[in-house]
Amino acid sequence: MSETPVLSLHEPDLPVTRGSLLRFSDDPIACMKELHRDHGDLAVLADGDQRLVFVFSPELNRHVLSDTQTFESRFFAVRGNRKSAQRRVTSGLLSQNGAEHRDSRRMMKEVFAKKILPAYHETICRLSSDLTESWQAGNSCDLNAEMVQFMLRMTSALLFGFDDAGFAQKLGRLIDRWAHRNHEIGMGALVSAPQFAEGYDDLLSQAEELEETVRDMFARHRSTQHAQVNILSLLFQAQESEQHLTDDQLIGHSTLLFAAAHLTTAHTFSWTLFLLSQHPDVLGKLRNELAKHVAGDIPTLEELEKLPYLDSVIKESMRILPASSYSQRIAVQPTSIGPVRLNPGTPVIFSQYITHHRPDIYENPDQFIPERWQTIAPSAYAYLPFGAGPRMCIGAPLAMVEIRTALTIMLKRFNFQIQPMSTVNGHVISTMLGPTSSIQSLLLPADRTPITVPVLGSVHKLVALPAGAQPLAIPRAA
Ligand code: HEM
Repeated sequence: MSETPVLSLHEPDLPVTRGSLLRFSDDPIACMKELHRDHGDLAVLADGDQRLVFVFSPELNRHVLSDTQTFESRFFAVRGNRKSAQRRVTSGLLSQNGAEHRDSRRMMKEVFAKKILPAYHETICRLSSDLTESWQAGNSCDLNAEMVQFMLRMTSALLFGFDDAGFAQKLGRLIDRWAHRNHEIGMGALVSAPQFAEGYDDLLSQAEELEETVRDMFARHRSTQHAQVNILSLLFQAQESEQHLTDDQLIGHSTLLFAAAHLTTAHTFSWTLFLLSQHPDVLGKLRNELAKHVAGDIPTLEELEKLPYLDSVIKESMRILPASSYSQRIAVQPTSIGPVRLNPGTPVIFSQYITHHRPDIYENPDQFIPERWQTIAPSAYAYLPFGAGPRMCIGAPLAMVEIRTALTIMLKRFNFQIQPMSTVNGHVISTMLGPTSSIQSLLLPADRTPITVPVLGSVHKLVALPAGAQPLAIPRAA
């Protein structure tokens, strides 16, 4: 018996845009902006029998994200067969649902507990300090590349206890290549575009290479004494006390943790430094706060507690350019959202970017205004850079500590002058909104304030930069 279609052509009042689903895979943000503009809180993109359902309001975000029985996470569209490496490397939290997910979250909660965070302070400060020592005022750098390399090293050290740039880069390269392939094939499945399925065999062999590297890393980790606390040591401890936690399961958790942690945080750093450099008055205020409350170059844990303006800057940066721009759930039983009926298997997309740019929640939503956080307190479903509900990012407290500490260390020593007329592009890859070009900057000493300069590129479609950042009008020849 065929299932009832989600929508029928005879329901003209439904919030439906008909057109190719490739519009979404090509440029998710542009597509979601149009859907939100045309339909408001709830929209459907329909192509023949295929539908993508979008929710854009805090109320509907809550509806979808809090009902984990109806809306499940299937982050990886391709799981491979039961005994494949692909199955094992995709078996982390984002592929789990129901009791399996609840049990894993409980086990991981201990590992990510707030009380453990101070133990990471030394590593975060040391690696941030190494980074700033490799910089020299007067030199040029690509902030995007610097932050990606920095976070590969940081993530490898914090998660696995290896401060080894070569290993971090190898694992990062394998994970990014594999995540990209997953995204392509997953997006192909989501929008029913068979051409994306061509990389399937390649994906499976990439998963094998990745698994082998993670297994080697486990062996190396077990045979090494670790002076600093790291997440893998805590997972191995949990393994000793949890009878059913196997190495195969830890492969899935470790791979997901690394994949979920490094680029999201790197993009947050890149966007925050870019926004600060283009908003010198905000930077000036932040610098005053750092000068007043942080005595040396390296902040103590107590000093980091007293930086409210830094918190506002980070919150605002993650609002306006959220590294996780959207995510999805799959309806697993027949249900409805408002007037839209959903069959099992229908993808439902929620978007941090669209929710965070709603003018009814955030005044002048496209502008970077950290001061707004002194007077607003949006709900968990109106401000959700780390997601919300039972699947909210488990690494959020760790990410926040990394960002607050490393930004303080960088800004205590340097400023960044964005290269005038350079191109800064931002695009969504694998749900993450990051810079897709270099961010060319000149390193300035901390006592020299940068100026707002005109830049080119698609970043202008994502945020409203100050007037001085608009590309100069090119005089026309007579
Ligand atoms: C700025 C940095 C980060 C951002 C913006 C971010 C964002 C997110 C978001 C939005 C989700 C929810 C996805 C959904 O609901 O579908 C998520 C989940 C997750 N994140 Fe993060 N994340 C960051 C850093 C980290 C770090 C540092 C780790 C680990 C060390 C981590 C591990 C995870 C895991 C394991 C999940 C899955 C949780 C679950 O399904 O129960 N993330 N993250």
